Amino acid sequence: MSSSEVAKQLEYLFKPEAVAVIGASRKPKKIGYEIVRNLLEYEYQGKIYPVNPKAEEILGLKCYKSILDVPGRVDLAVISVPAKLVPVVLKECGEKGVKNVAVISSGFGEVGNVELEKEIVDIARKYGMRLLGPNIFGLVYTPTRLNASFGPRDVLPGNIAFLSQSGALGIALMGWTILEGIGLSAVVSLGNKADIDDADLLEYFNADPNTRVILIYMEGIKDGRRFMDIAKKVSKNKPIIVIKAGRSEKGAKAVASHTGSLAGSDVIYSVAFRQSGVLRAISFEEAFDWARALSKLPPPKGENAIILTNGGGVGVLATDACEEYGVKLLDMPEDLMEAFRKYMPPFGSPKNPVDLTGQASEEAYRGAFEEALRDPRVHSVILLYCETIITDPVLLADVIIDAYHNAKEKKPVVVNFVGGEASDKAMRKLEREGIPTYPTPERAVSALAAVYRWARYSGHI
Ligand code: ACO
Repeated sequence: MSSSEVAKQLEYLFKPEAVAVIGASRKPKKIGYEIVRNLLEYEYQGKIYPVNPKAEEILGLKCYKSILDVPGRVDLAVISVPAKLVPVVLKECGEKGVKNVAVISSGFGEVGNVELEKEIVDIARKYGMRLLGPNIFGLVYTPTRLNASFGPRDVLPGNIAFLSQSGALGIALMGWTILEGIGLSAVVSLGNKADIDDADLLEYFNADPNTRVILIYMEGIKDGRRFMDIAKKVSKNKPIIVIKAGRSEKGAKAVASHTGSLAGSDVIYSVAFRQSGVLRAISFEEAFDWARALSKLPPPKGENAIILTNGGGVGVLATDACEEYGVKLLDMPEDLMEAFRKYMPPFGSPKNPVDLTGQASEEAYRGAFEEALRDPRVHSVILLYCETIITDPVLLADVIIDAYHNAKEKKPVVVNFVGGEASDKAMRKLEREGIPTYPTPERAVSALAAVYRWARYSGHI
């Protein structure tokens, strides 16, 4: 299949006109029940057809004995019947002309049932269907309000597509993103990747206008060459972040017994990722830190970053992090130092970090921040603040938001407030306004460094 054909067929996976749930259950807490409930309560606008030979009605929806009895077209069938029944219902899906199937059921390759897995892939291919799974928790696509999963319901809309090979971790991170206020365009459980794999989804999300960043939790890939070729192309257009588990020898063994994937040599993965522009994160915290920055910020136009701070300590920590992660600090020109001096007392420092001192007011921050946004020699800003009684963190956030939105030229800005409850509230406000915030200066710099790495790979700088 060509990339455009892949993307076209997967349109029906994420934007189906009608979804059937085969194995829809009458009993709350069973997977087949909760999927129908999620579809309804997340307010999916298309048609929903529960299929169960023993039921007349589920959650107020008319139930069908077989998918062959469903009137009209079905673009996506979610299958939640025991593994041994999957081939039969899959054939019926093929006869019905279903375009994509998501097989929730476990009991295939992951437990050594390789033959059964091959059988369902053969059936899907025979009928021209694409198959997601098996052994998955489902999928979510927020622009169409499609939650065909048994994961949390209230996934926040955003522009990060999150793909997970691990089911439990994927579900847990769905919940965690809600708590952290991180918006997602999609959540896809990849499971055994018997048919649809990471590379197919890269093709899809590359073309998807609702997605800006693709984040993958990966344990192994079957066709490394294809993944690399596609990732190389996609990375030029959109950032790809991968958390590749199994880095250590023992971790690799754990991967083998978890999803049956061959973790492969970690060094080879690292080299392959680097060559294809993939940003490799060590932890999910780091991956989402980067994703938030990459999904919100414009690429920088040059290498020169500036640190604005009211605290020398955090300024030094950020400077060390810049050195470590590869963010270049601007060598301050004399005239720019003069300009910054206007916003600080005589004992402040206009070098880089620009230290506005502990007595810096909101207006001092405004002046210095506007100066940094205005000056074409400054390409990005690391804005740090230690909570003092002199400034109100929430008012300071307002000042930053105002200056950021009114700037003529958009530059990447990352923010770290260190303090108590008010700082936390202020950071959430900044985040909602599209300015990524971090609880430590190192994490802010690490996120900016990821923006830089992608900007370099994609030719923005
Ligand atoms: N067509 C449609 N529905 C059918 C059919 C059929 N041919 N045959 C039976 N059904 C109905 C059943 O009657 C039942 O409905 P009911 O509860 O109203 O009676 C429903 O389909 C489900 O069938 P059950 O036999 O009750 O199966 P159950 O729901 O217990 O299990 C499941 C099915 C969930 C697919 C299970 O086999 C399984 O694989 N579970 C694991 C799923 C999983 O964990 N996936 C990976 C997720 S990732 C992670 O780790 C979180």
